[in-house]
Amino acid sequence: MSELDLLKNRLGHLQSEALALFDEADSLAALQALRVQYLGKKGALTDVLKGVGKLPPAERPVMGQHVNALKSTLADRLDLRERQLTVVEKEKRVEAERVDVTLAGRVLPRGTIHPVQQGLDEMTAIFSQMGFAIAQGPEIEDEFHNFDALNIPQEHPARAMHDTFFVKDEADDPILLRTHTSPVQIRTMEKLLANGEEPPLAVVAPGRVYRCDYDVTHSPMFHQVEVFKVDEDVSLAHLKGVLQHFLSEYFEKDVSLRLRPHYFPFTEPSAEVDVGCVFCHGKGCRICKGSGWLEVLGSGMIHPNVLKSVGIDSTIYSGFAFGLGVERLVMLKHGIPDLRLFFENDVRFLRRMGS
Ligand code: PHE
Repeated sequence: MSELDLLKNRLGHLQSEALALFDEADSLAALQALRVQYLGKKGALTDVLKGVGKLPPAERPVMGQHVNALKSTLADRLDLRERQLTVVEKEKRVEAERVDVTLAGRVLPRGTIHPVQQGLDEMTAIFSQMGFAIAQGPEIEDEFHNFDALNIPQEHPARAMHDTFFVKDEADDPILLRTHTSPVQIRTMEKLLANGEEPPLAVVAPGRVYRCDYDVTHSPMFHQVEVFKVDEDVSLAHLKGVLQHFLSEYFEKDVSLRLRPHYFPFTEPSAEVDVGCVFCHGKGCRICKGSGWLEVLGSGMIHPNVLKSVGIDSTIYSGFAFGLGVERLVMLKHGIPDLRLFFENDVRFLRRMGS
C-alpha cells in the first residue's frame, strides 16, 4: 500500500473511532476531553498532518483536503453532541433541584418570652402608660447607693438583713451586687440634679437584684420593679391610687388593697401592701394561708433623709416609693407553686407559660 493509501486508511479509522466515542460521551466534561484528544494542538489530527508533510509534494494538497474535511466533520459532530449534552445536563440539574411545593413546610420551633420577662414587660408597660419614665441602674453597686443614701447607715441592722453579696471587700470601698432596685432612686435623682433640673420626677425601674438566699420562695437572683415619684405635695393618697390602678391592671380584675404599717429605713411612714387573695377572693385558701390577703410589695413615703442625701429640699418636695418582687407577682397571677420553676428552664413549663 502506498503512503497515501495508508494515510487515507488511518483517517477512515480515526473518523469512525472518534465519532463513536463522541456519541458515547455522557457529560460535557468528557466531551471536552475528547475535543482536546482529537482536535487539540497535540491531538490525533495534528499527528496526521505531520504525516502529510512527509508525502511527495504532489500528493500533499489532496491529502490536506482530506484531513481538513475530517477536521470539520469532527468539529461539527462535537458541536452537535455538545448541544445535546447541554440539554441533558440541564434537565438532570432541574430534576435534581426539583422542589415539591405541595409538601408540608418544616415548622421551626419558636421560642417564647420567659415568664419573668413577660411579667417585667407587662408591669413596666402599665407604669409607662401612667406616665412614669423607665430608668435603669447598675447591678454592681457601691454601699453609698445601695445603703447609705437610702438611710441605712453602716451599723444599721437592716444591712445584715439584706444578705448582701460582696464582690470586692476592699477596706474602705466595698463593691456589692445590689440587694434591691431602690439605689436607682438615688441615681435618678442625682442625675436629675446634675442636669440642673428639679422634680417632678416619676420613674419605673425594672431590674435584677441579688441576695444570698435560696429556697422555695427565694433565689439568689430575682427581679424587682421600683416605682417612685417626687414632687411638691405628693401624698399617701397618690401612692394608694397608683397601687390600686397598677394591681387591678396587672391582675386584670378589681382587687382590694390593704396597707399594713411596716418599717423600711428609706420610707416614713412605710407600709406593706396586700391584695385580696386573687384565688379565693378573700375567703381564705391554701395560697393566702387562710388570711384572705396576699402580701405583694413594700412601699412608703420617701424618707426626708433620702431626699437630703442627694440634695433635694425635703421641705419643698415629698415622694412615694415602692418596690415589688416580679417573680412573686407572676407566681400569684399564674398560680405557679415553686419559684425555682423560673430558673430551671424546663421547656415544657416555659412553653406553657409562653405567649
Ligand atoms: N427596697 C425594698 C425591698 O427590697 C422595697 C421597697 C422599695 C420598700 C421602696 C419601700 C419603698 O425590700
